[in-house]
Amino acid sequence: MEKTFFMIKPDGVKRNLVGDVVSRVEKRGLTIKAMKMLQISDELAKKHYAEHVDKPFFSDLEEFITSGPVVAMVVEGPKAIKTVRNMMGATDPFEAKPGTIRGDYALIIDENVVHGSDSAESAEREINLFFNEDEIV
Ligand code: PPS
Repeated sequence: MEKTFFMIKPDGVKRNLVGDVVSRVEKRGLTIKAMKMLQISDELAKKHYAEHVDKPFFSDLEEFITSGPVVAMVVEGPKAIKTVRNMMGATDPFEAKPGTIRGDYALIIDENVVHGSDSAESAEREINLFFNEDEIV
């Protein structure tokens, strides 16, 4: 069993996609071990996207990710990190295949509905950034 960090971004929450996205995760057979809605601060955005702070798109990314509430989750299952990434589809929705979350619900990279950890190291770091140990069942 593996745990990953999964988040519905502000555009997904604003567009009332929370139920659908959570349902996809559950129906796939993955288990939600923790879930909360929160507003990401500038400080948390910089920590979460630490590897991207020097990228030209970072100010847009920070503005977007702090623009409204997100739904953060810890998701568990066999090969959960890769499974969730596959369900999300390509980062750029233009490249995302139909049947994936981004392939079904997104058009542009600035607003791509979901985030999922891309490695075991990122998963551990991101889970610890958003959740205390006693919030994970
Ligand atoms: S990189 O440069 O290849 O490491 O970046 P990438 O993995 O493609 O994307 C990292 C996260 O930044 C978001 N992103 C953007 N946001 C706004 N504007 C632009 N142009 C842009 N390009 C990339 C992208 O959605 C990734 O967010 P997460 O939450 O990790 O999916």
